[in-house]
Amino acid sequence: MEKKNIDWANLGFGYIKTDYRYVSNFKEGAWDAGVITEDDKVVLSECAGVLQYAQTCFEGLKAYTTEDGKIVCFRPDLNADRMVDSAKRLEMPVFPKERFIDAVVQVVKANAAFVPPYGSGATLYIRPYMFGSNPVIGVKPADEYQFRILTTPVGPYFKGGAKPITIKVSDFDRAAPHGTGHIKAGLNYAMSLHAIVTAHEEGFAENMYLDAATRTKVEETGGANFIFVTKDNKVVTPKSDSILPSITRRSLIYVAKEYLGLEVEEREVFFDEVKDFAECGLCGTAAVVSPVGKIVDHGKEICFPAGMEKMGPTTQKLYDTLTGIQMGRIEAPEGWIKVIE
Ligand code: PLP
Ligand code: COI
Repeated sequence: MEKKNIDWANLGFGYIKTDYRYVSNFKEGAWDAGVITEDDKVVLSECAGVLQYAQTCFEGLKAYTTEDGKIVCFRPDLNADRMVDSAKRLEMPVFPKERFIDAVVQVVKANAAFVPPYGSGATLYIRPYMFGSNPVIGVKPADEYQFRILTTPVGPYFKGGAKPITIKVSDFDRAAPHGTGHIKAGLNYAMSLHAIVTAHEEGFAENMYLDAATRTKVEETGGANFIFVTKDNKVVTPKSDSILPSITRRSLIYVAKEYLGLEVEEREVFFDEVKDFAECGLCGTAAVVSPVGKIVDHGKEICFPAGMEKMGPTTQKLYDTLTGIQMGRIEAPEGWIKVIE
């Protein structure tokens, strides 16, 4: 199959329209059979639930070309499970797990010409999403929904790829205790836009959000979880009910323990301890493992020893092992890799 003529090595994290997308509609209590379509337009009532009350959730995963030329994706079952949790919390119908995985396979196969070649540094980002589609004016859940999956080839999430970034401690909160921080609701991202625009204007790549209740504990950024490495080489990652349970973070914990023999602590992380860590990184599907070189807290700087040119050594090992598994260079734990073709 001939690949599209795209400058894979210079892609950023943006939207490029691909040829096909998957669509299924929920009406009268049931999902229809679903189709692959070329139609990228969504036509909705002016009063659709998603437009009035933001009833929408989404997922994000990637398809990779492996060293031996297969197209695979990484742990789509966990994205399906998380979308079930998001749908339930937002009073939306569940899109069945097996159908979610099948739809991912169909849409990636249909867009195989857009899956970046092995070694190009790019991947095909897969974005499943669901929204309330019928008119809703009193505050209540919609009765009709659309589930879609779009795909787009992407490069690194942060400009500069694997170069360490500088982030700031945000004055805004991302998620409340008992709120929606643990699900992938569009509303979590809408309310982070002012914070990220502010951070960018001030020259920062991202925000570090603290817990809303006490503002003493590290939560996550707008689009990734944190991992830290202690001076004695333990991996530490924040535990909180109001952060998104990152599939990348859960995979890195396994990789750290089982592949690298490292000790891992998943626990509350106080902001006061951050200055004592040796390394800091962000992890997520889009972010992969992105090193943080500096954190600025209202003018006070925390600079990590690896500096602003390269990743710290343990972050690098985590990155190499995870991406090695995703690209088929390192044997994966059972069930992590879904071969598409
Ligand atoms: N945290 C937030 C707020 C996110 O949007 C994402 C991206 O999905 C992550 C963390 C990372 O999660 P995952 O590794 O499952 O992509
Ligand atoms: C992802 O990593 O898939 C996300 O959804 C994060 C978003 C900031 C792009």
